[in-house]
Amino acid sequence: MTASSNPDLVAAIRDQILHSPEGRLSFADYMAAALYHPQQGYYARGAKLGASGDFVTSSYLSADFGELLAEQVIEIWTLLGCPQHFDLVEMGAGQGILAVDILRYINKNKPDFFRAITYTIIEKSAVLRQQQQQIKGANLCWKTWDDIAENSLEGCLFSNELVDAFPVHRLQREQGQWQECYVSWDEATGFQEQLGPLSTPALAGYFEQVGVSDEEFPEGYTTEVNLAALSWLETLAQKLKRGYVITIDYGYEARHYYHPQRSRGTLQCYRQHRHHDDPYCFVGEQDITAHVDFTALQRQGDRAGLDYEGFTPQALFLMALGLGDRLATLGQGNQPATGADIVRVMQRREVLHGLCDPQGLGGFGVLVQSKGLKGDRPPLKGLTIPRMS
Ligand SMILES: C[S@@+](CC[C@H](N)C(=O)[O-])C[C@H]1O[C@@H](n2cnc3c(N)ncnc32)[C@H](O)[C@@H]1O
Repeated sequence: MTASSNPDLVAAIRDQILHSPEGRLSFADYMAAALYHPQQGYYARGAKLGASGDFVTSSYLSADFGELLAEQVIEIWTLLGCPQHFDLVEMGAGQGILAVDILRYINKNKPDFFRAITYTIIEKSAVLRQQQQQIKGANLCWKTWDDIAENSLEGCLFSNELVDAFPVHRLQREQGQWQECYVSWDEATGFQEQLGPLSTPALAGYFEQVGVSDEEFPEGYTTEVNLAALSWLETLAQKLKRGYVITIDYGYEARHYYHPQRSRGTLQCYRQHRHHDDPYCFVGEQDITAHVDFTALQRQGDRAGLDYEGFTPQALFLMALGLGDRLATLGQGNQPATGADIVRVMQRREVLHGLCDPQGLGGFGVLVQSKGLKGDRPPLKGLTIPRMS
């Protein structure tokens, strides 16, 4: 059950379970401990991102992802009237690769904008924060939400693959009612799942909030609810005074996420580039994620004072920002002279295709919200290619 797990983390979670009033944790608390226990959690110990680790994000494919995102940020700066001070806030920055690519590109192509940027990273993992702090840059700083005053940020707040890493509650439909999944401990077999009543009333009202009827779910249907994403978005909305929020992640709108046929939910664990759905093995040695419900983020934003700007697949977002041009120029100009040149062009083509592959990273969602802007504005460049409904 706990094969190849971090034994110190298993012991810490077991103690947390045994000391809890009901001898069990909600799955969300279990997942929070597995990923973020301050000393032993998967992310607390640094996580293993990249080709030699457990998973890669778009940031690891090549600098193109950060550069195209930088193109979007440059347009945002222009739309805001080229202010002398611009907050670029990255939330959940992993090893800081995106920050390097974005800042390098802006410094090279828009030095006047570069001078206006304060690049703030909000990062939960102390070890990853230390790795990020190897990046040199006068305009970089690290903060927590508590360090940031309400209505103080002007610019762009963004995240890539952050929200899927928030702990989720797991629910199961039993006799026409929702039950919640809890984790208990058995000395012989280790972690055990059991069902019980909902741990918070926020779960009961969730489906109505995202426009899905409880009646649609068949008996035994299992799914997840990401309440942490809702409070995160509320915090962003409070801190932002004027500008945009860009959330990039894998996920669906609620009507697809909670489709009756998706009856086992979306929970996935990643280890050494393989994925499976058992969160009780390799505890602390694997990432645990769930897809993002973008309707929930949109509606929570509406409630918290953010304006919905648009939602589009990453492929179209990046194409609108110049990915297609980058692909097209690969086939132009001087013919590759050597075998090595040909291989380089082919590898680069593969990387660019990877960023827009609809079955992979290109199928990720990009949600754009704003605050404090006048109504009469063009859509952001990244949202200009219409998507098929
Ligand atoms: C899957 S990684 C994404 C890394 C990076 N954005 C990229 O594109 O490669 C998730 C990141 O979010 C961080 N994280 C998770 N929960 C967080 C929270 N509540 N606030 C800030 N960072 C968080 C993790 O420590 C990690 O750095």
